[in-house]
Amino acid sequence: MRIFVTGASGWVGSSVVPELLSGGHQVVGLARSDASATAVADLGAEVLRGDLNDTDVLRAGALDSDGVIHLAFVVPSVSEAATQTDARAVETFATTLADTGKPLVVSGGTLTVPGRVATERDELVAAGPIAARITNMKAALAAADRGVRSCLVMLPRSVHGAGDRHGFIPQLIAMARTRGISGYIGEGRAVGLPSM
Ligand SMILES: NC(=O)c1ccc[n+]([C@@H]2O[C@H](COP(=O)([O-])OP(=O)(O)OC[C@H]3O[C@@H](n4cnc5c(N)ncnc54)[C@H](OP(=O)(O)O)[C@@H]3O)[C@@H](O)[C@H]2O)c1
Repeated sequence: MRIFVTGASGWVGSSVVPELLSGGHQVVGLARSDASATAVADLGAEVLRGDLNDTDVLRAGALDSDGVIHLAFVVPSVSEAATQTDARAVETFATTLADTGKPLVVSGGTLTVPGRVATERDELVAAGPIAARITNMKAALAAADRGVRSCLVMLPRSVHGAGDRHGFIPQLIAMARTRGISGYIGEGRAVGLPSM
């Protein structure tokens, strides 16, 4: 299949693209800059230059493919501008792929559920700081009613590993290095803190 991938140059995308290529698929990756175009090309994918805000480019990428994997998001991802860009991207893909039966894969994060471990099976309730993003995830799933083979991949809250330079775990490591203290969640029985 020929797959259009947004966020191909990102942390998750740089694992997804080689996986697709090794499965015999062709990949076209969206790239908004020379640096991201080089990163996408170095992975072995074709490059489609454009920004996530450019719905004409997104439509062209989707029309020229057998399916779309949408991983890109604008940072900070909870800002109104970022979620509106994401909403427009999801709607553009849903409209372009409508009645084709082609796959639309959208990434999301698992939710925060008080008192227990959240899983990808938890019901999507649009609440809290990522409410707008959850609304977009639901919109992606609802594309199934318009003849799109849509699905949502609920990633863990922190996807990390060797080579991750800007994710949540590297941020915690950087903080620990700066302050000389590394915090661990315990049972609340700690009685003292090291002096700063
Ligand atoms: N990493 C995690 O811990 C985690 C956890 C749960 C869910 N997720 C979800 O997984 C998806 C991918 O995350 P990631 O960690 O791979 O993110 P990332 O490493 O920050 O990559 C983001 C990607 O989006 C692209 N992008 C950002 N703004 C763009 C714009 N205006 N136009 C075009 N492309 C743009 C970036 O391109 P540039 O190369 O040009 O910057 C990059 O390819 C996201 O939907 C995220 O919410 C990630």
